[in-house]
Amino acid sequence: MYTLQCVECGKENKETNYNCECGSLLEVRFDFDEVSVDFKLDGRDLRVWKYRSLLPVKSDPVTLKEGGTPLYRLERLEKELGIRRIYVKHEGLNPSGSFKDRGMTVGITKALEFRKKAVACASTGNTSASMAMYAAKAGLKAFVLLPAGKVALGKVAQALMHGADVIGIKGNFDDALRIVREVCDKADIYLLNSVNPYRLEGQKTIAFEIVDELGVPDAVLLPVGNAGNISAIYKGFKEFKELGLIERIPRMIGIQAEGASPIYKAFKEGRREITPFANPETIATAIRIGNPVNAKKALRAIYESKGLAEIVSDEEIVSAQKILAKNGIGVEPASASSVAGLIKLAKMGKIDRDSTVVCVATGNLLKDPETVIKVCGEPKIVDAEIEKVMALVT
Ligand code: F0G
Repeated sequence: MYTLQCVECGKENKETNYNCECGSLLEVRFDFDEVSVDFKLDGRDLRVWKYRSLLPVKSDPVTLKEGGTPLYRLERLEKELGIRRIYVKHEGLNPSGSFKDRGMTVGITKALEFRKKAVACASTGNTSASMAMYAAKAGLKAFVLLPAGKVALGKVAQALMHGADVIGIKGNFDDALRIVREVCDKADIYLLNSVNPYRLEGQKTIAFEIVDELGVPDAVLLPVGNAGNISAIYKGFKEFKELGLIERIPRMIGIQAEGASPIYKAFKEGRREITPFANPETIATAIRIGNPVNAKKALRAIYESKGLAEIVSDEEIVSAQKILAKNGIGVEPASASSVAGLIKLAKMGKIDRDSTVVCVATGNLLKDPETVIKVCGEPKIVDAEIEKVMALVT
């Protein structure tokens, strides 16, 4: 019903491979003649496993009830930017607080199907938190490699508490990913970074849920780091189109932090390959990535959907994080870059005024309390006296 195929040479690969012999990325391809779609696009009962008939598993899934995240409308921002409809899909409300859970529910299920005893990933934080949680649920051993000192505290706390072995690497995310890929090969550990094609299958349900609840928007904006999510969401829309469930695909708009923007740079130059950034830097540590492994898939998604890539500064990210917070939506910095990108692009006239756009907010505010204190300041402290407090509230 499904096979693993190379995105470049088209060769069918073993279902446990992460890369083709030719070195390129793999993706899951369904034979749609054999798939019977058993869900209704009625906006009800949204969750990852509603779409099981389009997910590549053969066994009962390891699930923590992921997906079904709310879509909020931002009426004030619509007026301010003069755009007809702006929605935010709050992926920070998944079980571990990020969209990674959609991928992990599938990835960990595959780890069990392949009879693996241990799983591993390199991470800027969220992947490790999510993997630790799902590995715990499945009873698998988990190893995570983090860029030491560059991961938001909440994410490290999650990985530790859910029982992963947490290893800090004196290097950046790209170094950690290079190392973990080799370690997984040598030690027969299942790799759960987004080079794992099954993980991306889970993440494509973001597209399915958007269509299910809203129909097809004109554009979807999201932060881009290792570039798995934009590739996954595009694949989701493409599959719905191939199945005849929708007639068009939204523009995929990837937003990167200025200091970590190899995909933006390639897009600006009209190229399909990136030149890595050796020393990526941004306040949005989740997307502090210089050599995204899924760059080719992401650029294909952007070009094929007539989308684009844009960069935002740390100041623009923090400002968008505050705008979201004022609308009752608490997100971590990387997540806010989608809205920061929308604001920038709208002001540049690059978003059609009559359009419906969805910004994906990828991770929860609670993930990164340290940045909040830096940008909002410490709480006021006073003596335990009514007068002292009265002086502050009047
Ligand atoms: N937003 C958040 C909050 C993330 O944690 C990530 C990636 C992204 C956006 C970008 O997604 O990599 O698919 O382009 N975090 C990874 C991690 C790298 O290790 O948690 P992407």
